[in-house]
Amino acid sequence: MNIKSSDYLISSPSFDKCPKPDRLEFAFIGRSNVGKSSLINMICQKQNLAKTSSTPGKTQMINHFKITTKEKKGENSWYLVDLPGYGYAKTAQKTRRSWGQMIENYLRKRENLSNVFVLIDSRHAPQTIDLEFLQMLGKWEIPFSVVFTKSDKEKPGVVKRNVEDFLNKMRETFYFLPESFVTSAEKKIGRDELLNFIENLSKP
Ligand code: GTP
Ligand code: MG
Repeated sequence: MNIKSSDYLISSPSFDKCPKPDRLEFAFIGRSNVGKSSLINMICQKQNLAKTSSTPGKTQMINHFKITTKEKKGENSWYLVDLPGYGYAKTAQKTRRSWGQMIENYLRKRENLSNVFVLIDSRHAPQTIDLEFLQMLGKWEIPFSVVFTKSDKEKPGVVKRNVEDFLNKMRETFYFLPESFVTSAEKKIGRDELLNFIENLSKP
C-alpha cells in the first residue's frame, strides 16, 4: 500500500462529535506512553502528525487523521484514530471514569470501525491491565489485533519471551489468537506488515 497523503482532521471530546462515519476506520489504543502516537507517525512517515511526549497522558481526545492511498485503480481513503491511553497512575478517579465512558462509547458505537490495534509494550512481562482490556474488547465483540511496541529498547531475546508470554496468557481466555505484530517506531520496524493488514481489511 502506498500512502499518498495523511492529514490531521479533528480532535473530538466524545463519540458523537466524531467525523461522519463515511469511510473505514482503524484505531490505535493501549497504555499511556506505550507509543501509539509515535507508531502512527511512523506508519504515515510524518514526524509530527500525531503529538508524542515522554510524559504519559499526552493524547486526551479522539484524534482523527485522514489517510489517502494510491491504488492500481485510483485512490482510496480511510480514517486512522489516535486514542488516549489507559492506566496512567496519576489520573484522577473521575477522569479515569470519564475516559472509560468515552472509549466504551466510541468502541461500541462507531459503526465504521474496522479494527482496533491494541499496543503492548514489548519491554514488559504480561500486564493484567492489558489482558483485561483485551477481554473487554472480546466481550464487546470488537475486532482487534495486538501490536508490540518499542522492540528496539530490549534485546531480541527479551522481546521474544515477552511476546510469547503475552500470547500464552491470551490463550488462557481466547479460543483464537488475533493477528499480532512486533514493531519499533524508532527503527521503523513493522510498517509494511501493518499496512498490508489494513489493506486486506479495506478491500471492497
Ligand atoms: P499517550 O498519548 O500519552 O498515551 O502516549 P502514546 O502511547 O501516544 O506514546 P508516544 O507515542 O507519545 O510515545 C511515548 C514515549 O515513548 C516518547 O518519548 C517516544 O519517543 C517513546 N517511543 C515511542 N515509540 C518508541 C519506539 O518504538 N522506540 C523507542 N525507543 N521509543 C519509543
Ligand atoms: Mg499519544
